Amino acid sequence: MKIALLGYGKMGREIEKTAIDRKYQVVLRIDIGNQHELTPENLRKADVAIDFSLPASAFNNIMKCFEAGIPVVCGTTGWLDRIGEVNQECVKMNGTFFYASNYSLGVNIFFAVNRYLAGVMNGTSGYNVGIKEIHHIHKLDAPSGTAITLANDIIERFWEKKKWELNRETDISTLNITSVREGEVPGTHVITWDSGVDRIEVIHEAKSRKGVALGALLAGEFIKDKKGVFSMADMIKL
Ligand SMILES: NC(=O)c1ccc[n+]([C@@H]2O[C@H](COP(=O)([O-])OP(=O)(O)OC[C@H]3O[C@@H](n4cnc5c(N)ncnc54)[C@H](O)[C@@H]3O)[C@@H](O)[C@H]2O)c1
Repeated sequence: MKIALLGYGKMGREIEKTAIDRKYQVVLRIDIGNQHELTPENLRKADVAIDFSLPASAFNNIMKCFEAGIPVVCGTTGWLDRIGEVNQECVKMNGTFFYASNYSLGVNIFFAVNRYLAGVMNGTSGYNVGIKEIHHIHKLDAPSGTAITLANDIIERFWEKKKWELNRETDISTLNITSVREGEVPGTHVITWDSGVDRIEVIHEAKSRKGVALGALLAGEFIKDKKGVFSMADMIKL
């Protein structure tokens, strides 16, 4: 598989390392300094593009891939107010788009556990729920895309919670997400269900960025000969 990397920061470089281990070829690397090289001709040298760039650049990068007719896997978070538009454009332009707030298999298993627990708790009184996410100090968006997925999955199933808020719990119907930025932490998420008599905690702690890099490459393999809009639910059945 030939890959175009859109965003050559921490994740872009990690994806390149894993790509080389798997005998894939990286044919294009786009970062802040060479955006003029993001042309249809250059993109068409790749089978798939993988975008781990910035919240402000993801939308345009994805559109450029649609224009070039190249399938695109996007991992960039913090721009999701425009995902409806992207999904529509993808269908209109007969493109291929894969988005996940987290590409690691472990996190997707964690998502499944979270959905299950929220469903069980819906019929159980006395528990309040909160989410804490911890990431490295360079992360631009808060809360993390992963924490937003966890929160939305809880709100869909646990009817006491109507909305989430960052770093404040206004009333019992609000699900609080606490964001902590420290050191070089790759990504930790903690879901706490607390009652007067006990506490249940479910934790996912990434040890490195390798799990995400592998998942993004597998998503590339999954979509490279397909058309349409895809997510982790299409690739892994949990
Ligand atoms: N979905 C997931 O599983 C997952 C996992 C980890 C990180 N992320 C997200 O991926 C994104 C990137 O993370 P990172 O840790 O690699 O960040 P990073 O800051 O290390 O890298 C981003 C890179 O994008 C470059 N860039 C800026 N403008 C650009 C443009 N127009 N086109 C291409 N590149 C451009 C920056 O110069 C930088 O090198 C973030 O939004 C992060 O939250 C998602």
